[in-house]
Amino acid sequence: MIFLLAFLLIFFVGLIILLFTSKKLSPIPYFPTNRKDLPLIINAFNLKNNQVVIDLGAGDGVVIFAAAEAAYQKKLNTQFLAIEINPVLILIIHLRRLFHPNKKNIKILWADLFENNFKKYIKSRNSTTFYLYVSPWLLEKIIENCKLEIKSFSIVSYMYPIKSLKEKEKRIKGKKHDIFVYN
Ligand SMILES: C[S@@+](CC[C@H](N)C(=O)[O-])C[C@H]1O[C@@H](n2cnc3c(N)ncnc32)[C@H](O)[C@@H]1O
Repeated sequence: MIFLLAFLLIFFVGLIILLFTSKKLSPIPYFPTNRKDLPLIINAFNLKNNQVVIDLGAGDGVVIFAAAEAAYQKKLNTQFLAIEINPVLILIIHLRRLFHPNKKNIKILWADLFENNFKKYIKSRNSTTFYLYVSPWLLEKIIENCKLEIKSFSIVSYMYPIKSLKEKEKRIKGKKHDIFVYN
C-alpha cells in the first residue's frame, strides 16, 4: 500500500513538473504578473461596459481576477476571459472564480491560445482588449492570429513591446516592469 501511495505521489509530482517545464506542453513559461503593477495594468484596460478583456495565457488568473474586481466595484458589465493551456492552472482559476464577487462575468477556457477559439466571446461586445504577458518572440505571431479573428482591438502587453505596432505605442512606467499599450 505504501509503495502504491509513494508511486502515485511521485507520478503526480512528476506530471505537474512536466506541465510547468515542458516546452512542448507550455512554450511560454508560467510567470505571474507582478502584483505591484496591477493598478497600472487595470487602468490601461480602460474598463467600460460592453467590453471584453482576454488574458491570452492567464496563468493563475491574477490579472483577470483583479480587473474583474475593479469592474465589479464600478458596476460595469465588462466580461473577462481567461485562456490557459496548463490544466493545473485551469483548476486553480476555476477554484478562485467560485469565490469571486464578479464570477458571472468571468469565463474560463482551457485551450491553446494559438487556436483562436475566442470568437464567440467577442461577438456581442463593442470592444476587445487583449492582455499579453508572453515570451517576446511569440508576440508578433499572436497578434497576427488575433487579426484573423477580429479587426479592431486594444492590447496591453506586460514587459515586452510589440515591434510591429511601435507607432501606436504608449509606454507606462511600471513599479516592476513597463506596460505597453496599443489602442
Ligand atoms: C508568463 S505567464 C503569464 C500568466 C498571466 N497572464 C499573468 O500575467 O500572470 C504565461 C502563461 O501562458 C500559458 N501558456 C503557455 N502556452 C500557452 C498556450 N499555447 N495557450 C494558452 N496558454 C498558454 C502558460 O501556462 C502561462 O500560465
